[in-house]
Amino acid sequence: MKLLVIHGPNLNLLGQREPEIYGKETLENINVLIKDECKKLGFKVEIKQFSCEGDIVDCIGKGEYDGLIINPAAYTHTSLAIADAIASVNKPAVEVHLSNIYKRESIRQKSLIAPVVKGQISGFGKYSYKLAVAYFAEI
Ligand code: DQA
Repeated sequence: MKLLVIHGPNLNLLGQREPEIYGKETLENINVLIKDECKKLGFKVEIKQFSCEGDIVDCIGKGEYDGLIINPAAYTHTSLAIADAIASVNKPAVEVHLSNIYKRESIRQKSLIAPVVKGQISGFGKYSYKLAVAYFAEI
């Protein structure tokens, strides 16, 4: 099993970015958690962070993975292009959010990504990623 983990825009700023919403963990710490979980399960993992929508689309489209974990960040609410890329590569994908997007502003309560993924994990901070990795252990 090779997992591809994609973090979207501004997630590189975690730790300093609105800590009351996203917590104090840095992206580096979250990546350590993801790598540890993957190691325990014997999974290979590649982790990428992109600010640009097209880079995310290109990375997904290469299809060099068995399973995808993606936090599309603000593109969750706007990007048909990312949704189309996920749908085009016929591999299981899980959408992840640190915050509970349904408790937030109405614009964040709509995900264009949700219809093309297996499921969405939202609101558990860094553990949202851990739960996503655990899903791939089950399938
Ligand atoms: C987020 C939620 C999005 O609405 C926001 O734009 C982000 C982070 C989350 O992980 O909670 O950048 O995806």
